[in-house]
Amino acid sequence: MSEPTIESILQEKRSFPPSLEFSQKAHVKSLEDYQQLYDQAQANPQKFWADLAQQELHWFQKWDQVMDWQPPFAKWFVGGKINISYNCLDRHLTTWRRNKAALIWEGEPGDSRTLTYAQLHREVSQMANVFKQLGVQKGDRVGIYMPMIPEAAIAMLACARIGAAHTVVFGGFSSEALKDRLVDAAAKLVVTADGGWRKDAIVPLKEQVDKSLANNGAPTVENVLVVERTKQGIQMEPGRDHWWHDLQAGASADCPAEPMDAEDLLFILYTSGTTGKPKGVVHTTGGYNLYTHMTLKWAFDIQDTDVYWCTADVGWITGHSYIVYGPLSNGATTLMYEGAPRASNPGCFWDVVEKYGVNIFYTAPTAIRAFIKMGEEHPNARNLSSLRLLGTVGEPINPEAWMWYHRVIGGERCPIVDTWWQTETGGFMITPLPGATPTKPGSATRPFPGIIADVVDLEGNPVADNQGGYLVVKHPWPGMLRTVYGNPERFRRTYWEHIPPKDGQYLYFAGDGARKDEDGYFWVMGRVDDVINVAGHRLGTMEVESALVSHPAVAEAAVVGKPDEVKGEEVCAFVTLEGSYSASEELKQDLKQHVVKEIGAIARPGEIRFTEAMPKTRSGKIMRRLLRNLASGQEVAGDTSTLEDRSVLDKLRGGS
Ligand code: WT7
Repeated sequence: MSEPTIESILQEKRSFPPSLEFSQKAHVKSLEDYQQLYDQAQANPQKFWADLAQQELHWFQKWDQVMDWQPPFAKWFVGGKINISYNCLDRHLTTWRRNKAALIWEGEPGDSRTLTYAQLHREVSQMANVFKQLGVQKGDRVGIYMPMIPEAAIAMLACARIGAAHTVVFGGFSSEALKDRLVDAAAKLVVTADGGWRKDAIVPLKEQVDKSLANNGAPTVENVLVVERTKQGIQMEPGRDHWWHDLQAGASADCPAEPMDAEDLLFILYTSGTTGKPKGVVHTTGGYNLYTHMTLKWAFDIQDTDVYWCTADVGWITGHSYIVYGPLSNGATTLMYEGAPRASNPGCFWDVVEKYGVNIFYTAPTAIRAFIKMGEEHPNARNLSSLRLLGTVGEPINPEAWMWYHRVIGGERCPIVDTWWQTETGGFMITPLPGATPTKPGSATRPFPGIIADVVDLEGNPVADNQGGYLVVKHPWPGMLRTVYGNPERFRRTYWEHIPPKDGQYLYFAGDGARKDEDGYFWVMGRVDDVINVAGHRLGTMEVESALVSHPAVAEAAVVGKPDEVKGEEVCAFVTLEGSYSASEELKQDLKQHVVKEIGAIARPGEIRFTEAMPKTRSGKIMRRLLRNLASGQEVAGDTSTLEDRSVLDKLRGGS
């Protein structure tokens, strides 16, 4: 298993202090500076964030109240007026950054494009005017289902500019998953492309949109705006579908940014939870803008001369916060890449680093482990000397992968910033500040200034150093989710009631297990709920189970994570069949394909095991712990006395 075990992290004693050269030029230059910021923020969080909001962002109107905390509902910068598109674009135009590269795009079959701040501002303003022309108004929701092309970022910023909320749906999700999200958000417009490039093939995005909208599937959607990318020929429905290039040609580039209330909805992003239906995580404008801005500035030490590349897709929170909003708010140059490393082009990432002289590179442990497998000859054959900082996110990084990243990609000179955070947190929560924090392989180190994190038991009591417990956050922060879209009760239940509040002290429950060492460093162990992490993508086991039982052959399904060397975990499904069906290799393939159709390729089970019965307790609850043991090929451990029918276990062991 490649994820860190308790034993391996307790043995991990290596520590890597920042080099003097790095520290001297960094925004935060020493551990003392970090500690000072941290202490200030802890002593007076409202003053800390208000001072930064004043210094770092443009406001049309200042707030009346920094924070309004009616647990578990927080508001930040109440009464303030702001526009994140203005902060990402307009304010840079009156400076030398006007003609600086804002977005560098490397497309898949060799295309590329660079947009300066002035050019990006122009395109965003035009698209915002097109949205208005298509009837989108402040407060409406817009679905974005796009490949990794500049227009994905342009569409997000265009929404923000006119005060419409976006809901970006990852282009790898199926038409079913897209439909569910469009319905839940009641989207009025969908922005998509004819197709996108994914590992040498075209993903037919527009065709998927057509499927979602067929038979009045998402009745609130009035229009579809289509960007031409792959030119493979698609159906356009008259009156509903419009080509972006046609409407852009007649669109004015004058569209002043709408002053938004700091707490106005900026976006909804769906993420998996412990129940079948993904939840719409709600982020608002002012606090999110400040939080993504500050975290990128200090944790990635972004400088004006940097070319910064985050390899995530804009369909995930990492793309929202750290390809689009954080970098552009800082006036940085952000790079967007349409491709993905694959057998036919194992060196493509390193070609991009060399071609653009990338200075800051941010990726996921699963990618790093895939690179290790592909062999270090690929990075070694490229000039990676421009790199000065490396980042990682999405899952715990095993120390071996960390050391490889450090040595082969970082040339032993680049600090590694391991950022722990979530869709819900908006931005980095536990992370080194690279000029200040000595790093330890496998640890996300210490909380960002202003973040009061701890490891506690289920009563909310802090556990001793190096004891396992639950990762919690004790004070609201500007980038936190505000609610679950349309479901405040689910928000309360999921995040604030696992650990019952005591004396008015509410703890944000992250759903991760962790431990804190004697230096106050956090070691995140992984999810403690029914969420699994496949190649850095979050999946609810119930979500996959619902997809499986929607197949006529399936009577019952139980899904667990199975350790995988590269992906961290993969989906392993135990399935019992309806009487008239019998187990076959063909049915296995059919079920896998069914999950792809219902959710998307990221949820495709790596393994399906047919079984006659599930191990259940006397009260009928499936004992997933036993299934996890079986999936990972371990002996069934722990107490099995509650198991109703013990013969089930033997049958499962022998199961195919
Ligand atoms: C879950 C959140 C935040 C962007 C990517 C994923 C896991 C994330 C780390 C890390 C250990 C990590 C956690 C978390 N996770 N970063 N540096 N070390 N685990 O966002 O899809 O909302 O998933 O990813 O389990 O809860 P997400």
